[in-house]
Amino acid sequence: MSALLEISGYRLAFDGFEGRAHVLDGIDLTVAEGETVGIVGETGCGKSVLARSVARLVDMPPGCVPGGGIRFAGQDVFAMDQRGLARLRGHGVAMIFQDPMTYLNPVFSIGSQMVDVIRAHDRAEGKPKRARAAARDAAAELLDAVRLPDPGRLLDRYPHELSGGMRQRVLIAMALTGTPRLLVADEPTTALDVTIQAQVLRLIAELVAARRLTLMLISHDLGVIGALCRRVVVMYAGTIVEDGAADVLFAAPRHPYTRGLLAAVPDLARPAHRARPIPGHIPNLLQPPPGCRFHPRCELAVGRCVAEKPPLRQVDGRLVACHRAEEAAA
Ligand SMILES: Nc1ncnc2c1ncn2[C@@H]1O[C@H](COP(=O)(O)OP(=O)(O)OP(=O)(O)O)[C@@H](O)[C@H]1O
Ligand SMILES: [Mg+2]
Repeated sequence: MSALLEISGYRLAFDGFEGRAHVLDGIDLTVAEGETVGIVGETGCGKSVLARSVARLVDMPPGCVPGGGIRFAGQDVFAMDQRGLARLRGHGVAMIFQDPMTYLNPVFSIGSQMVDVIRAHDRAEGKPKRARAAARDAAAELLDAVRLPDPGRLLDRYPHELSGGMRQRVLIAMALTGTPRLLVADEPTTALDVTIQAQVLRLIAELVAARRLTLMLISHDLGVIGALCRRVVVMYAGTIVEDGAADVLFAAPRHPYTRGLLAAVPDLARPAHRARPIPGHIPNLLQPPPGCRFHPRCELAVGRCVAEKPPLRQVDGRLVACHRAEEAAA
């Protein structure tokens, strides 16, 4: 398998009112074509910023300081010009987000928005732009592919006339327009109720398999990740702390933070077995803790954890960034 996505030493800081926030601190992540990778971590740990960086969708205001690099299919995404970026977003990376309503324009019908997207993709690909009628047929086909009933009629409806689950399907259909290789789904089902969530997750799984997509799924729900991803990447305060096969990580986590995350999941089968929250809070990224960013909350922390940032290293068949990973296992 060849690497589709290579993120190396990627850093991102935002200069703001109160100073510089070190939001991502040296991310190393290589994803091979066809992999399904889940990214988990507490709120604010940098999952969305990382995901958006892959398609260069993160706002890069003057005060934003990136470092390291991101390559997609061998190409440096930070060196791309506008045309290269249009191609990357059309045919390389497609994204779906948590709140579908934000990404649909309330004043245009579903059909007119899809037709515009389809024709924009034609332009980005350098193909002759399809006529509106042909693009509309293609839109109906895509709606059918995401199992929306009666696509012909749906095209004439407006976003507010659709349920949340239907809107998310429309956005998934739009994401498939340019035949992407990598699908980045950032909390795609968080806004949906559990039954609709299950349907949308199944749809994503089916599309990933049928179209041989590489999947990067961001969620703070370990159950969602476990259902769709074979590999799990755990983030904490802008760093990757553990990265490995989902069954290995879930069965025997080695980073104290991953252990904490798993212990914090309520067990419905054993209600008496209370979920244990991780004590403390995520750190202020204006002044992140030195060494391991997790050390203030870690029961195993020793002097070295304060002094030295632990590198990601191989332990028991996965990567883990912890000086005390061996002790954590004991
Ligand atoms: N454009 C921006 N300017 C300044 N800071 C930003 C910007 N975008 C994100 N941040 C900061 O980056 C950090 C990471 O944000 P991010 O949205 O990636 O978190 P997350 O892990 O996706 O959280 P959640 O689970 O809540 O979605 C946060 O501290 C956030 O305030
Ligand atoms: Mg997010």
